[in-house]
Amino acid sequence: MVKLGVNIDHVATLRQARKGSSPDPVSAALICRKAGCDSIVAHLREDRRHINDNDLQRLKLAFMNRLNLEMSVAYEIVDIACAIKPHQATLVPEKRKELTTEGGLDILRHKTRVKNAVRKISAAGSKVSLFIDPDKKQISVVPETGAEIIELHTGKYAAARTQSQKKVFLRELAQAASFARSLGLAVNAGHGLDYNNVWAVSRIPEINELNIGYSIICRSIFTGLESAVKEMLRLIR
Ligand code: PXP
Repeated sequence: MVKLGVNIDHVATLRQARKGSSPDPVSAALICRKAGCDSIVAHLREDRRHINDNDLQRLKLAFMNRLNLEMSVAYEIVDIACAIKPHQATLVPEKRKELTTEGGLDILRHKTRVKNAVRKISAAGSKVSLFIDPDKKQISVVPETGAEIIELHTGKYAAARTQSQKKVFLRELAQAASFARSLGLAVNAGHGLDYNNVWAVSRIPEINELNIGYSIICRSIFTGLESAVKEMLRLIR
C-alpha cells in the first residue's frame, strides 16, 4: 500500500503572514495523523521562512518515528538534523529566492558534499533520502553517497499541460523508479501532486511513499484538514 507523508510547511507559511502563533503546524500535523497519514514532512529552510527551530523540536516530540525533515546540506542545518534525529532526513537543493524547491539535488556535481551529509546524518541515527530528478545518471550515483532512499521529483509531470506530455513524464518516472529499485533503493516521490494527478503516480509499483503538501493544505481551507487528508489517502490507496 502506498504511504502518504503530509508536508505541513504551508500551515506555518500562513502563521508567518502575521508572525503570530496561529495556525500552529504541530496541531495541523496531529490532525493529519488522526486522518491516517503515515508521516509528517517539514522543511527547515535556512531563512526559516515557515517552519522554525521550535516547531521542529515540537514535531520531533510528537512524531518520534514519523518525522521526515526536508533540509539542505548547509552545515548549520546538518548539525541541527544530527541533534534532532528525525526518523528520516530528505536532502533537497535550496535557493533563497525560490518559492518552492525547484529541481532535484545534483548529486553528480555535489557528490562529496552530499556524501558527507549522508554520513553525518546516518551516524546520528536517521535514515536519509535524496530528492532527485527522474534521471538515470543521477540515480546511478546514489549508492556511492550511502543513501538508501530516493524521492523522485514529480514537478515536471505535475506541470505538464497536455496529456501526451503527461504520458512522457509519467513514463520517465516509472522507468526511474524501476531503475532505482534494481539498485536496491527505496523509492518515494513528490512535488506538485494534487487530487487530479496523483492517481497515475500512485500506480507505479515501485513507489513506497508520496509526499504531498500544497494541494492538501489548499483543499483543507474548504473541507477541513482531516477530510482533505482522508480524500488524498482514498485516491492513492
Ligand atoms: N517533496 C519535497 C522534497 C519537497 O521539497 C516538497 C515541497 O516542499 C514536496 C515533496 C511537497 O510538494 P507540494 O507542496 O508541491 O505537494
